[in-house]
Amino acid sequence: MRSLVIGASGGIGGAIARLLFGRGEVFLAARRMEKAPPGAVRLEVTDELEVHAFFQSLPPLDLLVYAVGAVERSPLRDLPRSAFETVLGANLTGAYLVLKHARFTPGGRGVFLGAYPGYVRVPGFAAYAAAKAGLEALLDVARKEFRREGVHLILVRLPAVATGLWTPLGGPPKGALSPEEAASRLLSEALKDPPPEVVEI
Ligand SMILES: NC(=O)c1ccc[n+]([C@@H]2O[C@H](COP(=O)([O-])OP(=O)(O)OC[C@H]3O[C@@H](n4cnc5c(N)ncnc54)[C@H](OP(=O)(O)O)[C@@H]3O)[C@@H](O)[C@H]2O)c1
Repeated sequence: MRSLVIGASGGIGGAIARLLFGRGEVFLAARRMEKAPPGAVRLEVTDELEVHAFFQSLPPLDLLVYAVGAVERSPLRDLPRSAFETVLGANLTGAYLVLKHARFTPGGRGVFLGAYPGYVRVPGFAAYAAAKAGLEALLDVARKEFRREGVHLILVRLPAVATGLWTPLGGPPKGALSPEEAASRLLSEALKDPPPEVVEI
């Protein structure tokens, strides 16, 4: 299996990368290199030239995991446009650019990490909720377009996972899954046959 994890410097992406080591060829992409596992390539997912060049340098993939995200908590009336765009960029624009430029083997799988709408469509989370809703819609359309290439796109809805994503929110809630537990459950579900379209952890 030839895999790529984007967001390998993150909590969940790092845990997925550790699980994939030893299971074929593994490519890693991250933004903050000081937090990235060895061998990772620097990638800013909102930069189309970078994303395009990155995928040109890779062979077609059997598995791509998009573990990129950002969150901001702010009432909508106080939410700076730059913060809104940062959240949309990481969760949605980056996913669009990756889908646009990634190359898969026939039967390849793309796994994208979403959230339960009921948990995130709450006051203070307008940007994150909108980005994750957009991600689900993007995948619904891309899934139909990519079907003829034999590419399967999988949305994984996750509950709270104890990662750095929660740092700006004051830390993860009690009962949050560990990144290792989340990674193990999501990978085993996403690799099932036939490939699922939506996985709920
Ligand atoms: N943790 C949860 O409770 C939870 C729940 C539901 C869904 N999710 C989703 O799971 C995914 C992974 O989240 P996580 O919890 O592992 O968060 P995390 O530890 O904060 O990791 C986020 C990752 O996204 C990368 N990133 C952010 N903006 C980027 C950009 N513009 N270009 C390139 N990389 C960028 C970060 O890179 P650098 O650190 O290198 O900058 C980091 O690797 C996200 O999509 C998140 O929304 C998480």
